[in-house]
Amino acid sequence: MPVDFTQPTQISSKLACPICASPLSLIYNTRRCSNAHSFDVAKEGYINLLLPQHKASRDPGDSKSMVLARQHFHDNEFYKPLTGAITQHLAVDSSLADLGCGEGSYGRWLLESAPSLDYYGIDISRHGIRCAAKSLSKATWLVASNWHLPLLDGVFDTALTIFAPIDQSELRRIVKAQGHWINVTPGSNHLAELRECLYDTVADIDKQAAFEHWQAVDTQRVTGTMNLLQTDIGNLTNMTPYAWQADRDRLLALQSRDSMIVTYDFVVTLFSKSTQSDNHSPYR
Ligand SMILES: C[S@@+](CC[C@H](N)C(=O)[O-])C[C@H]1O[C@@H](n2cnc3c(N)ncnc32)[C@H](O)[C@@H]1O
Ligand SMILES: [Zn+2]
Repeated sequence: MPVDFTQPTQISSKLACPICASPLSLIYNTRRCSNAHSFDVAKEGYINLLLPQHKASRDPGDSKSMVLARQHFHDNEFYKPLTGAITQHLAVDSSLADLGCGEGSYGRWLLESAPSLDYYGIDISRHGIRCAAKSLSKATWLVASNWHLPLLDGVFDTALTIFAPIDQSELRRIVKAQGHWINVTPGSNHLAELRECLYDTVADIDKQAAFEHWQAVDTQRVTGTMNLLQTDIGNLTNMTPYAWQADRDRLLALQSRDSMIVTYDFVVTLFSKSTQSDNHSPYR
């Protein structure tokens, strides 16, 4: 649930201490576990539960400039059509952990169409989470790594990953026994026009995979075209790895175009958590 500073004490049923894994209670503006480990709630309303030993660098995840580029790109809502393909899988009053949530636009869109959702946005980038918390207080925002989720076992109805890195054992741990995982990955045509400008050969980026312990129960493709202006092209290229991977001259040529029609292509896969016995073939 969102942080409520007017309540002296709240027991959260979902947050776990990143040091000892026991539940974290909210006491005024501090989260504290029974072993007296404590974590302040930032003035923007998010909590930093990322331990120094779980960082690979001083400032992990998306940089401030990538976060700003993504925020400005999402302001024009080009990717908002994806929201419907996600909310159709969410039950009323259910809980959702958006792992690698970025700067919060998807959280805002999801809560617009599913207001009773108990939404948790988690990202390793403090810039992303700070931006998200500033723009939406009706959510729980955590700075944390998907490899060490400060979340209790089996407490989420659904986990969501949109173009985000995943640790399978942590993902499985936090989702309820009958819960689901929605994984959004790029389809083969995603940003094809941009990639054609930047690279000699355009690789197939649609890498659908099967995952142990999860059964794919539904797959949908969300595709369309965007009429991008120069600022949108700049933001889009700056929020993706293209900004540092692509040839500099090609990137600058692309970024100086006045406008461009670009395809988005998302693959939305709904997985249900399968028990060990579900994985046994009936023919064995
Ligand atoms: C491609 S962005 C996608 C952001 C958001 N889901 C969206 O689609 O707008 C990938 C996100 O994963 C975050 N990230 C990278 N490594 C992470 C990790 N180990 N744990 C949590 N988040 C991570 C980055 O900071 C970034 O916000
Ligand atoms: Zn603790």
